[in-house]
Amino acid sequence: MSTIQAIEQRRSVRSYTDIPLRQEDVERIESYIAGLEAPFGRQAHIRLVRRDLPQGKVKLGTYGVIGGAQDYLTLCCGNLPLDDESAGYVFEKLILFCTSIGLGTCWLGGSFSRKDFGGQVEPEAGERIRAVSPVGYANDRKRLWDVLIGAERHHTSRKPFDSLFFHHDFLTPLTEKAAGIYYQPLEMVRRGPSANNFQPWRVVVDAPQVHFFHRKTLGGFDALDSGIALAHFGETCRELALAGHFEVRPDHPVAKDVVYSATWIAD
Ligand SMILES: Cc1cc2nc3c(=O)[nH]c(=O)nc-3n(C[C@H](O)[C@H](O)[C@H](O)COP(=O)(O)O)c2cc1C
Repeated sequence: MSTIQAIEQRRSVRSYTDIPLRQEDVERIESYIAGLEAPFGRQAHIRLVRRDLPQGKVKLGTYGVIGGAQDYLTLCCGNLPLDDESAGYVFEKLILFCTSIGLGTCWLGGSFSRKDFGGQVEPEAGERIRAVSPVGYANDRKRLWDVLIGAERHHTSRKPFDSLFFHHDFLTPLTEKAAGIYYQPLEMVRRGPSANNFQPWRVVVDAPQVHFFHRKTLGGFDALDSGIALAHFGETCRELALAGHFEVRPDHPVAKDVVYSATWIAD
């Protein structure tokens, strides 16, 4: 499955069969994690852990309940500028990899303690468990119920393209046509997951530069969400052979209410 297909197919899965991950899937995940490198020279530590949960629904994260999951991915990172973006980037790459091999996942942000994971996760000095995700086989029967009772209501909607993306400056909304070669990478940003589906991403295209920002949100996961946007953009560009790289630019545009993350520069 391509990255674009994985982005299109991913959704938050909150109900799982209680079947633990098969050994071949454990190995595939472990080997993918081993090859991951966090961008911007930051450190992010990702682990696959068994949580040995009692059966039934469990509340982890700030909202939503997760049923049936036995296995979890955990994300630890520091608390300095760009740590969240970098961690969000690599964790989302892993989420997309899991999607591509048919596994369900659901980003969960919140305050987690080592106790939540039976002491199996040890954040390094200056790090915290920033997000987790169940990983396993979706229980589609249960999912139908979740859809009916509205537990998946967040999934359906995304903000319009021209309310998230801008041309040259923050005053001019970007049309799909004017986005040119960046239409598809930006559309993949738009489809991304974000905490509470707040979609805090804002992007200014000023070719050959594409500047990424996020609005501050109440939950405080906006910089992680921004990392997800950078991952969807960067990995889609890579797949479409649009050469470029991310850089932190001091001369980026500024606007009230948005925080700058990084800039894509076409090579
Ligand atoms: C950083 C982050 C934190 C999230 N935290 C939670 C959470 O605590 N509980 C939950 O049920 N979903 C959580 N989500 C999932 C979002 O609600 C979901 O991605 C969004 O509503 C869009 O739906 P979709 O993932 O199905 O496309 C989180 C997503 C992100 C990116």
